[in-house]
Amino acid sequence: MHVLLVCLGNICRSPTAEAILRHKLEQVGLAERVQVDSCGTGDWHVGAPPDERATAAALRRGYRLDALRARQLAEQDFTRFDYLLAMDEDNLRVLEARRPPGCRAHVGLFLDFAGLEDTPVPDPYYGGDRGFEEVLDLVEAGADGLIEVLKRRLGEAR
Ligand code: 4NP
Repeated sequence: MHVLLVCLGNICRSPTAEAILRHKLEQVGLAERVQVDSCGTGDWHVGAPPDERATAAALRRGYRLDALRARQLAEQDFTRFDYLLAMDEDNLRVLEARRPPGCRAHVGLFLDFAGLEDTPVPDPYYGGDRGFEEVLDLVEAGADGLIEVLKRRLGEAR
């Protein structure tokens, strides 16, 4: 199973989600069966490490972002990944617009899996530290919900 987490810059929300989801998959013993990656719809930060504020906030909860590097969404992502999950509606619109005909992947909002339908992970880039804590709170809930769905799918695939 392959999961791609998508935001705008790939330096705040989606790398945070990548690290948290990977950490939680390790905790439940599914790290070998679910591959996780992240990307941005924009290209401004390609090759850059995550935002220092996001990195510091994540580290306070035990998640490491420092080895991650930003990349932009690519055409092949729609065939490589089973789930392409957007942090907000803008990111989702880009995914829907670029989704090739016949693409079988699940394309949707990440927080739908936390039982938070139509809820964005708000962009923290231009705000204060509270925004980064909110990203962590929401992403932890989203990752827990997504793992329950993945467990069921992987159980059925056995
Ligand atoms: P992200 O946050 O999409 O969560 O990585 C942002 C990062 C950079 C910018 C906007 C949002 N920016 O405008 O450069």
